[in-house]
Formats: sequence, C-alpha cells, structure tokens
Amino acid sequence: MLVLGLAGSPRRNGNTEILLDEALAGAREAGAETEKIVLCTLKYSPCISCGSCEKTGRCVLQDDMQMVNERIIAADALIFATPNYFYNVSAWAKAAIDRSQALWARKHVLKDERLRQNKPGYLISVGATKGKNLFKGTMLTIQYYFEATGFVPAGRLLIRGVDAKGDIKKYPEYLTAAAQLGREAAAMKACSL
Ligand SMILES: Cc1cc2nc3c(=O)[nH]c(=O)nc-3n(C[C@H](O)[C@H](O)[C@H](O)COP(=O)(O)O)c2cc1C
Repeated sequence: MLVLGLAGSPRRNGNTEILLDEALAGAREAGAETEKIVLCTLKYSPCISCGSCEKTGRCVLQDDMQMVNERIIAADALIFATPNYFYNVSAWAKAAIDRSQALWARKHVLKDERLRQNKPGYLISVGATKGKNLFKGTMLTIQYYFEATGFVPAGRLLIRGVDAKGDIKKYPEYLTAAAQLGREAAAMKACSL
C-alpha cells in the first residue's frame, strides 16, 4: 500500500508541505508506505503539445516528470498538496498536471487498464484570503487531473486565511485534520474534513 504525496509549493517547508508531511505521517501510522515528491526540486518542462503521447502513451520530454508519472501509476493513493496561487494551483503543480497528458492518453486513447482503477485522490490546499470561491478553480483542475491519472476525488483539506510561511503550525486543528486525511488515504477511504 503506497501513499504518494506531491508537494506543489516552491516554498520549502511552507504551509502545504507541512500539512502534507502530517498527512504522510498519518498514513505511515496507519500502516502504509509513503513517498513524497517535492516538485520544485525537480527539473521538468511544461507540456509542449506535440501530440506524441497520444500515439505512444509516452512523453517525448526526457526529464524528471517521467519518474513522477511512473510513481503516480505505482501509487495506491495520491495526496496532492498545493498553495492557492491566483485561485488555482501553483505553476509547479500546473506544469506537472499538464505533463500528465501522457497518462490521460494511455488511459483514454490506448486504454491502459492500470489507469482505470479509480484509486483515491486527496487534495490539500492553503490560501491567504477567505473568499467563498477561493478553491473553486483548484477543485475543478484537480478533479480532472485525478480523472486523467486514475484517481477519484476522495477527500480534501482546504484552508483559508493562512499566509506567512509556517503559520499553519499555529492551528493544531489543521495539523490534526491533515493526519486524519493521511490515515483515511492509507485505508483508501473517502473523507471530508
Ligand atoms: C504567486 C502567489 C499567488 C498567490 N495567490 C493567492 C490567491 O490568489 N489567493 C490567496 O488567498 N492567496 C494567494 N497566495 C498566498 C498563498 O496561497 C499562501 O501564502 C499559502 O499559505 C502558501 O502556501 P505554501 O506556504 O505552502 O507555499 C499567493 C501567493 C503567491 C506567492
């Protein structure tokens, strides 16, 4: 049982990475193996829309995203953590999402069964402001990213009003919720927090 965490913030040990760490610790506590990939430590390009993946299921860009996509296929559950940037995911996260087009092609064009398992996917995000629509864009993007990569939305932890680096630690209830999300991921259960 592998729970994979993708960290989408360029701010190391920032609010979303802290929550992801709590979630992965919760998953380990519940008996899962975990892996964390910090996107900003990798080298990868955005999708170039060459269309090759629709014929081969493989991306022509030979960079770190090849490894990320293989780990996504190997994972039993995925926790995607990203800060809210302009009402959506970070650019690091969005570039990774666009590069999953190769997985979309494997699933929808080449009918690869490994991408049809409907594994649980969880979203963690934090924004500085408090508006009702803050996570609308993110949720829609992640919903279709999960669909393309073989996951279904199974839970989310969306936190408003936290901005400065590490301030999430001032809210123990959010850390507890993240650990709970990780335990649910290890059990492959849906949760709402
Ligand atoms: C480029 C950029 C864009 C942002 N856009 C928004 C935004 O549209 N709405 C918002 O509430 N917060 C926005 N924020 C604030 C972050 O979401 C917030 O600081 C969050 O806690 C960062 O999480 P992190 O520490 O994991 O990077 C933005 C921050 C940056 C750097």
